[in-house]
Amino acid sequence: MDDVGAVLYGPGEIAAAVERVAAAVTAGHPRGEPLVLLAVLKGAGPFAEDLAAALAGRLTVERAALAVTSYGNSTRSSGKPRLVRDTTASIEGKHVLIVEDIVEQGLTLRFVRDLLVRRRPASLRACALLDKPDARTVPVELDYAGLTAPDAFIVGYGLDYQERYRNLPYLAALSRERETSGGLGNRNG
Ligand code: IMP
Ligand code: MG
Repeated sequence: MDDVGAVLYGPGEIAAAVERVAAAVTAGHPRGEPLVLLAVLKGAGPFAEDLAAALAGRLTVERAALAVTSYGNSTRSSGKPRLVRDTTASIEGKHVLIVEDIVEQGLTLRFVRDLLVRRRPASLRACALLDKPDARTVPVELDYAGLTAPDAFIVGYGLDYQERYRNLPYLAALSRERETSGGLGNRNG
């Protein structure tokens, strides 16, 4: 745990952010239509679980997932996203909400949006637990964001540093020391 620095958002703040996103998604969704919640794994796993639970009783939800990885060698560049596992869900004619952990450069969300729009959904929106708006290098539409992320590499609640710390029940910054000591390796989504 030497890599993990200050807690940014605790479980209570995460739960409140999930509820805010759930309320906004519900308000923006056409009445009576099911919603396909499509998680971008692995990072968005916990957020998608909690969001799906928060939507219970409000919307009819279909769960779906795909997995994306991007490779990069610094905290700033996440490189080229690659589809590791596609979804088996049918998208055509469905209302689809992409569920992301964090949108930084925007490359991953851009990639997933481009992939899904070709499958002709009835509507395609995106939400993320965390938004780093200042880090965007490609313009991409993010319809709902729970929390704003500071300029730091973040771990916990699904987000990893070299596959570690996804299991932390809070969001924390990676310690400065580690962040500046060289490449962060692969971004495993
Ligand atoms: P992008 O830069 O918007 O393409 O973000 C790419 C992916 O890298 C995100 O979906 C996350 O899975 C991951 N990522 C981006 N920023 C962070 C971070 O601060 N901590 C952990 N993972 C991150
Ligand atoms: Mg991700």
